[in-house]
Amino acid sequence: MTEHVPVMVEEVLRALPPHLTGWVVDATLGLGGYSEAVLRACPHVSVLAIDQDPQALVMAARRLEPWGNRFRAVEANFRNLKEICTALPERPKGFLFDLGLSNLQLTERERGFSFNNDGPLDMRMSPLLERRASDWINGSSPQELSEIFRLYGEERHAWQLAKGIVRHVSQKGPIETTGALVEVIREILPAPVQRKMGGHPARRVFQALRIVVNDEMAALEEGLAATKKIGADPSSVVVVSYHSLEDRIVKHLFRSWREAGIGEFLNRKALIPTDEEISLNYKARSAKLRAFRLTGHLGRGGDQDEE
Ligand SMILES: C[S@@+](CC[C@H](N)C(=O)[O-])C[C@H]1O[C@@H](n2cnc3c(N)ncnc32)[C@H](O)[C@@H]1O
Repeated sequence: MTEHVPVMVEEVLRALPPHLTGWVVDATLGLGGYSEAVLRACPHVSVLAIDQDPQALVMAARRLEPWGNRFRAVEANFRNLKEICTALPERPKGFLFDLGLSNLQLTERERGFSFNNDGPLDMRMSPLLERRASDWINGSSPQELSEIFRLYGEERHAWQLAKGIVRHVSQKGPIETTGALVEVIREILPAPVQRKMGGHPARRVFQALRIVVNDEMAALEEGLAATKKIGADPSSVVVVSYHSLEDRIVKHLFRSWREAGIGEFLNRKALIPTDEEISLNYKARSAKLRAFRLTGHLGRGGDQDEE
């Protein structure tokens, strides 16, 4: 069975309010690592878990079945957090976001997320999404693709890659697989440029495509904004992110909350994994954890919808 080793679990648990009772929302269930850790560590807490990936949901639900009615799982996008949480009997006291992909998504070639395994150019976390990565690659103008690579991949060679990809599609037909896209990228970029890139030459294009396919940045902003409306006083919002675009959104939002006087950062700086954790779990190397304790937000606009 695919395993996903959860990242910075101890630090995530420490960010929850002490002597916790009630509900915690695991907004990114994945294979259930955080949910299980909370259920184990906090005997008076129940977990509402969300994932938009039905495959992850089935596997995690099976794994967490022994926890009975202390665990509930919903297939949904966390951008709809407010609506999802109306099913709860009380305001949640913690929200956990472990962003990005699970091992299940990364390692199954059929999902099309990996530049190391050939598979269909898909990258949808949810089958309900209409546009696959191949639709973006084969149906966008060079300007659109370049903007996507620049914004979401911070790719220095965005324009050159976008132009080359669109030319390839118009001359040789659509790119339908991850392997074919990697090959095209390798053809476009001169070898010395590839050597200087540090890492796989397709890494940033793949990151950008994944973000745009799943509309990840907007979903994150909406999901985090909802916590302030529905979280108990006090409640913790804990986010583990894996690249600077995500981390920037979290940092700025938490800063704006502190300036509005509705809580405090739980750590002065983002926490990062120990060397020991990274040596045991390579995926943890780019993780950053930020946590905020919301207090005094209710009745001060925190629980109202902004127009
Ligand atoms: C890094 S994994 C979580 C791993 C989990 N903490 C564990 O220990 O097993 C991220 C999960 O969040 C899900 N996900 C990402 N964005 C989402 C969103 N906007 N709504 C719902 N689920 C999302 C992905 O499908 C993936 O399964």
